[in-house]
Amino acid sequence: MSHDISHDRIAVIDFGGQYAHLIATKVRRSKVLAEIRQPEDSTEIFREYQGIILSGSPALSSFGEDSAYNKEIYELDIPILGFCFGHQEIAKHYGGTVVNGKQEWGHADLHIERDHPLFAGLDKVEQVWMSHFDSVTAVGPDFEELGHTILGEGSPPHRFAAIGSDKLRRYGFQFHPEVDDTLHGDDMIANFVLNICGCRSTWTMDSYVTEQVEKIRAQVGDNSVFLLASGGVDSTVAARLFSEALGPDRMNLLHVDNGLMRKDESAGVVEMFHELGLDKNFHFIDATDTFLDALEGKIEPEDKRRAIGDTFIAVFESEAKRLDIEHHLLGQGTIYPDTIETGGTKRSDTIKTHHNRVPIIEEMIAAGKVIEPLADLYKVEVRELGEMLGIPHDMIWRHPFPGPGLGVRLLCSDGKAEDADSLGTIAPAVTAALARFDLAGAPLPIKSVGVKADLRSYEHPVLIHGEADWDTLAEASGTIFKTVDGINRTLWNLTGTMPAAFKSLAATMTRDRLDLLRECDHLMMDGLRRHGLYGEIWQCPTVLVPVEIDGRGKELCILRPIHSERAMTATAARLPLELLEELRESVMALPGISGLAYDLTSKPPGTIEWE
Ligand code: XMP
Repeated sequence: MSHDISHDRIAVIDFGGQYAHLIATKVRRSKVLAEIRQPEDSTEIFREYQGIILSGSPALSSFGEDSAYNKEIYELDIPILGFCFGHQEIAKHYGGTVVNGKQEWGHADLHIERDHPLFAGLDKVEQVWMSHFDSVTAVGPDFEELGHTILGEGSPPHRFAAIGSDKLRRYGFQFHPEVDDTLHGDDMIANFVLNICGCRSTWTMDSYVTEQVEKIRAQVGDNSVFLLASGGVDSTVAARLFSEALGPDRMNLLHVDNGLMRKDESAGVVEMFHELGLDKNFHFIDATDTFLDALEGKIEPEDKRRAIGDTFIAVFESEAKRLDIEHHLLGQGTIYPDTIETGGTKRSDTIKTHHNRVPIIEEMIAAGKVIEPLADLYKVEVRELGEMLGIPHDMIWRHPFPGPGLGVRLLCSDGKAEDADSLGTIAPAVTAALARFDLAGAPLPIKSVGVKADLRSYEHPVLIHGEADWDTLAEASGTIFKTVDGINRTLWNLTGTMPAAFKSLAATMTRDRLDLLRECDHLMMDGLRRHGLYGEIWQCPTVLVPVEIDGRGKELCILRPIHSERAMTATAARLPLELLEELRESVMALPGISGLAYDLTSKPPGTIEWE
């Protein structure tokens, strides 16, 4: 990133919210340079910026958490805008009130009170995205309410969703304009940056390649790079960038078949690197047995993730030794969400440990042995970069596939009827929440990972059963999340009948289970392609859960097609009923399958992957 002082700059203060870096990206969309800053950075540093944005946070403003940041910023004559936690902090600092317990999740309608430069060019009612436990309930004397939200027809307004003081040039949004689900969030951010802060649009992405090539050459020096090439878009774009910077002789590529790949995937990856002309020092190893050994008996999601990450390093190190290139730097295609969701910025909560952020890698990073040219970028930007570097369209637009592969889509269990008590309390609440929709439902005896108000959750899904259209299912899901505690996912039962009995079964990572998941995944991906939907869907995990339903089979199969742009938020994609019917027939016909369900959950409160 250029630090040329001729550019106008915006400081984004990172309080550890899941979306802090996304704010910087969105500011850069206005061709204005944005930089991430820490809350305790000095006033001298902040003085150099044209505007300051305060991010959200996992901390609760109502309880005064994380309040020891540099408050002198409020004395500066520079416009400040806060989102979520940042909004609440601004309200509080200038005499307003913040309370705990008035929460909102997902979509809401923002009603804008009057014409204001922050909302220039927008409608009177705008779709925005909420994820909060705390709310502003009163503002100080210099402030006015610029917008409120309404949760549903007939509900009272949720006040102070947008606030501001034109005199002080201080503003706050309870919602997150930086996520794509706030439909015109980009315009709101651009209005602040260009209209309120008066920044000039001089910073462009075109210089990124040149700057990165220079940076890679400087960091690598006379050394070379050894890159783990999964075949996914991130490591492929990174490989191309390294080869631009260093030439093919100073880059070694290693593709590891970890046994957690899709059906026939590794053969396709080898072929792809050949087509890209990046096969000069390309090595391939089938390490399925090593990975299965490391995963034996592991059940907890974070244990599995760590085992996979550590095994990648062990395999990488032994291959480096065999090839006599141990001193090479480790290249990785890490992108920004991998870092933030691992708790990789000072304050953020660990949602899940991404495979390229396990402790051994962290140590290697500290020792300067890792090089990650994409670590600032999101998937959309990586794809943009890939197109600039001439990587063919089909390769760039492959669905993202996580480093730990099917390992995070094959749930394991010790089979103990865990949480019978808590399930017993959740069940009646679920029935009550679904009654007005004429739907039945029950919590499942397993857990998956989710994210709520920037914090990790590990909670039960609810299986919803009954005839309903998509809108009703979405509303029913929303009602469950709002009214039932301990739930972070909702599923729609595609099996045909409402199950009477679920049984959690003991299951670990075995070759047979992986093969069954590979087959289910293959049917799903094939279905998307046959129906011409592959390009429309952003990603589609298929998940196996060891739950027996009504005495049938041992695995519940879950389909999770989603729309997203940056993976930080997502919504469930609606598939044609004809395709779902085909999948019901083909998946249910596989031996060992007890049922089929469709994941209706947005992110938040779910995550895209189940672990
Ligand atoms: P979640 O499940 O956190 O996923 O909503 C967000 C995006 O990241 C991918 N993902 C990973 N990618 N290493 C990766 O390279 C990982 O450990 C990992 N975990 C999740 C996931 O597939 C989705 O696109």
